[in-house]
Amino acid sequence: MLKGRHLIEPKDFSLEELDEIFTLAEEIIENPRDYLEVCKGKLLGSLFYEPSTRTRFSFEAAMLRLGGQVVGFSEAGSSSVSKGESISDTIKTVGCYTDIAVMRHPKEGAPKLASKNSDIPVINAGDGGHQHPTQTLTDLLTIKALKKDLSNHTIGLCGDLMFGRTVHSLVKAMSRYENIKFVFISPPELKIPDYIKNELKDNNYYETSDIEAAIEDLDILYMTRVQRERFLNEEEYLRLKNSYILNNEKLKNAKEDMIIMHPLPRVNEIHTEVDNDKRAVYFKQARYGMFVRMALIMKLLGVDKNA
Ligand code: CP
Repeated sequence: MLKGRHLIEPKDFSLEELDEIFTLAEEIIENPRDYLEVCKGKLLGSLFYEPSTRTRFSFEAAMLRLGGQVVGFSEAGSSSVSKGESISDTIKTVGCYTDIAVMRHPKEGAPKLASKNSDIPVINAGDGGHQHPTQTLTDLLTIKALKKDLSNHTIGLCGDLMFGRTVHSLVKAMSRYENIKFVFISPPELKIPDYIKNELKDNNYYETSDIEAAIEDLDILYMTRVQRERFLNEEEYLRLKNSYILNNEKLKNAKEDMIIMHPLPRVNEIHTEVDNDKRAVYFKQARYGMFVRMALIMKLLGVDKNA
């Protein structure tokens, strides 16, 4: 039963519960008109303490497409946070007015703290370099829809694997499915953290800095941005920011049915010439994000098209 629950990290939900969400998302994709009013009278609180395009727009679009409404802020400066209000007081107040809240915050653990003080469901929309569970729902739905199965894949994750919260959440989530192999492709300075690797079996992954050597084995290539906002040292960022630039030349040994994903935003790490390759699915992926968030909102609110 998902009604009334929080989503702070992907493992908060069982595989069966994730499957329920994906099944509903696929039904919404097929018959969006059936869901136009299911959230009529419901209000989403949208609390974004850090910039966002996809996550905020897709959550807000999701609620509006379900017939609900949205209130919130897209920068902390326009709320009483700027006067020093705590996360717990903010969420208790937001819970007085809304039915469900989504929170993005630069500090790891902020949405979890909010959830512990909240009477309404709280969804983590990304906390610092930690987790981004609804991006993971987006990624899993994309893989399920386009590769037909969430098991039996070799997935290469490339770029900033140290600070990339989308990578951390996706690895944790994909490791629960059968026969998944990970290839972690990064410069030595941006390797995947030990706390993520420690959850994997040794023969389920390897690390490399060489994308061209790894690419021919991959069913899925998940590119990520080197994130300027996570670096304390600008020179280090400038040195590492162009570590990988995927272009048509680098794709020449990739499988014909490999898919290229990216949580976006991209900076330089995928050349725009790749956008025309049929394997490039990152904008489709962004669209799946809206449908999976529609399904998530419905499940956490316990609403149904037949109710
Ligand atoms: N993928 C993602 O989280 O994008 P935004 O930062 O634009 O929300």
